[in-house]
Amino acid sequence: MQLIITLILALSFVSTCLCKRWNLVDRNDNIYNVMQYGARGDGKSDDSQAFLTAWNSTCEAQGAATLVIPPRLSFLVNNLIFTGPCKATSITIQVISVNGLTIDGHNSGSIDGYGSTWWECRSCARPIAVYFNHCNNLTVNNLRVSNSAGAHIAINGCNGATFSRLLVDAPRTSPNTDGFNIASSKNILIQDSKISTGDDCIAINGGSSYINATRLVCGPGHGISIGLGKDHSYETVEEVHVHNCTFIGTTNGARIKTFLGGSGYARKITFDQIYLQNVRNPIIIDQHYGVKVSEVTYHGIDGTSASDIAIKLDCSSLGCSNIVMDQINIVSSQKEKKVNAFCQNLQGTIESTVPKVSCT
Ligand SMILES: *[C@@H]1O[C@H](CO)[C@@H](O)[C@H](O)[C@H]1NC(C)=O
Ligand SMILES: *[C@@H]1O[C@H](CO)[C@@H](O)[C@H](O)[C@H]1NC(C)=O
Ligand SMILES: *[C@@H]1O[C@H](CO)[C@@H](O)[C@H](O)[C@H]1NC(C)=O
Ligand SMILES: *[C@@H]1O[C@H](CO)[C@@H](O)[C@H](O)[C@H]1NC(C)=O
Repeated sequence: MQLIITLILALSFVSTCLCKRWNLVDRNDNIYNVMQYGARGDGKSDDSQAFLTAWNSTCEAQGAATLVIPPRLSFLVNNLIFTGPCKATSITIQVISVNGLTIDGHNSGSIDGYGSTWWECRSCARPIAVYFNHCNNLTVNNLRVSNSAGAHIAINGCNGATFSRLLVDAPRTSPNTDGFNIASSKNILIQDSKISTGDDCIAINGGSSYINATRLVCGPGHGISIGLGKDHSYETVEEVHVHNCTFIGTTNGARIKTFLGGSGYARKITFDQIYLQNVRNPIIIDQHYGVKVSEVTYHGIDGTSASDIAIKLDCSSLGCSNIVMDQINIVSSQKEKKVNAFCQNLQGTIESTVPKVSCT
């Protein structure tokens, strides 16, 4: 099994939050915690050797393995390079409650999850390549993450994270391989990156706010998707801003989906300056009764649709309110075909749109 990981952890990183979510690591027997390899986490000792030794064990494990970087006051590591080939069939790097971490791949950094053996099993709970759990003020730059067994980069319970110049890629046919999967997090910026996978480019789940996606190219994959209310839960998502992004051959472009029986709301969401190339559902709201959808703005959306319905605003009897659409121009990706819009139970301001949107 080939696995090449080159991560350069520039700067030291500091943890103050002692909140614990250890339950998230316990499904995997091959857990390698840097503390068990002599890391001190005292902010003074150089922990590079401990990280490397822990990495070696993770890499040599049979089956799936997880390298855990736990909360401690401070880890000092320098120019850390994780390399393979590895025996482990997939590796998760799990960073728990670490604040102020910077991971910079300096353009040669790459994490290959070699997840293909997992893709065949559709019902398996799959390892995530890089998991940031309760990390604050995180910076990740110039890194490639590919072929994860499950989601490539998961962000849970974090406040403050910027991802710049990432390349995330897996085949179009790989199931459940979200590029980014964000939950219960705020102040997250993903910018100047390219994401090609078999599932969502970015999945934004309950408890998330102030999430920005800027200058991204998505595709293939399922687009940017805000989803909430699954399993009858109460969930909220607000202040999501998708700006200057391109979708190429994706299933969805801008998607908001709510599940039947859930509750909560999705509001203050903008999709602005969006370019579409052959996207099946360029603009889609899929509201099932329970979760409110309001204050959503679509502005400056251009390109081509692969299906006849370029705009689908399918709101339940609960209704979608304060929806604004302006400067939208979506045509068919097939010559001489026309595209339509579908809209129901929606209130708002519809200005210039092609196709024309009229709501019932
Ligand atoms: C890790 O393993 C490689 C290959 O077995 C070895 O060359 C290297 O010295 C090991 N590094 C550490 C820090 O143990
Ligand atoms: C995050 O960074 C900001 C600005 O540098 C700082 O004010 C804040 O205290 C930091 N938060 C944490 C949790 O480290
Ligand atoms: C996120 O987008 C909003 C709306 O465009 C903007 O006001 C805000 O400054 C952006 N935040 C970041 C961190 O880019
Ligand atoms: C949009 O993003 C592209 C790169 O993806 C960049 O070249 C262009 O300047 C951006 N446009 C604006 C108005 O920010």
